[in-house]
Amino acid sequence: MAKITASVFTSHVPAIGAALDAGKTHELYWAPLFKGYEYSKQWMKDNKPDVIFLVFNDHATAFSLDMIPTFAIGTAASYQPADEGWGPRPVPVVQGHPALAAHIAQSVIQQDFDLTIVNKMDVDHGLTVPLSLMCGQPPAADFKWPCPVIPFAVNVVQYPVPSGQRCLNLGKAIRKAIESYDEDLNVHIWGTGGMSHQLQGPRAGLINKDFDNAFLDKLIADPAAAAAIPHIDYVREAGSEGIELVMWLIARGAMNDVAGRADGVNLKHRFFHVPASNTAVGHVIMENK
Ligand code: DHB
Ligand code: FE
Repeated sequence: MAKITASVFTSHVPAIGAALDAGKTHELYWAPLFKGYEYSKQWMKDNKPDVIFLVFNDHATAFSLDMIPTFAIGTAASYQPADEGWGPRPVPVVQGHPALAAHIAQSVIQQDFDLTIVNKMDVDHGLTVPLSLMCGQPPAADFKWPCPVIPFAVNVVQYPVPSGQRCLNLGKAIRKAIESYDEDLNVHIWGTGGMSHQLQGPRAGLINKDFDNAFLDKLIADPAAAAAIPHIDYVREAGSEGIELVMWLIARGAMNDVAGRADGVNLKHRFFHVPASNTAVGHVIMENK
């Protein structure tokens, strides 16, 4: 059977993609940030998944404000990097896993979460920057992402957005779905986006390190408490775009301890850095025991 062996949590910031693509990772501003992912890149090599279930948000790239699915699962065979205004990032096409994605859609919808099925979708920095941070980057012409990816897009752009509790519960349903897939696959689940940031209005540039670190503490040790944080607290404390953090709860909800299993989780890595563009960067790796 398929099994979730680990969860990865990371910010996604477009400027990180630009720094990678322009070869600026060794510059004074960026070096400390990329240092925090050295462990992670080695860990990815040592713990190579067969599939990554990647929870992310689209930034009005694939979905305009004409159509806003709350939860959308990618069932396509491949996904093109999107043009976000400066052309698509020069990274490989993302290969999907249509068979597992269709199985998860079937199982999760039957567990009462109404997912939108997406058979064609371009993927923006919300998905490609976490992949670059964890897996490295071309220039090698034969560079490929290490495995297929199932993109799972969450609306955190236009209110109303899903609650933390619903995201945690959805993670539990995704775990059940994956564990009922009849093939031995090692699956990682990634929760991406965040941390505190506000990109508009009088509070543009807001970063709240205390909130961010308290969120990481709760995410790791008390996911039920993290799931109970109301939207208004994210907006007040973490800025209008800090709500991206709610997506991390989907990945967290898929882990052993949340499923009530005695064999819990191991924290493998925790990293926090300020600033990166207009935000803080947070990153956690957990393994199921
Ligand atoms: C920025 C943009 C984002 O989409 C995000 O999640 C964080 C930061 C930015 O432009 O700084
Ligand atoms: Fe974002």
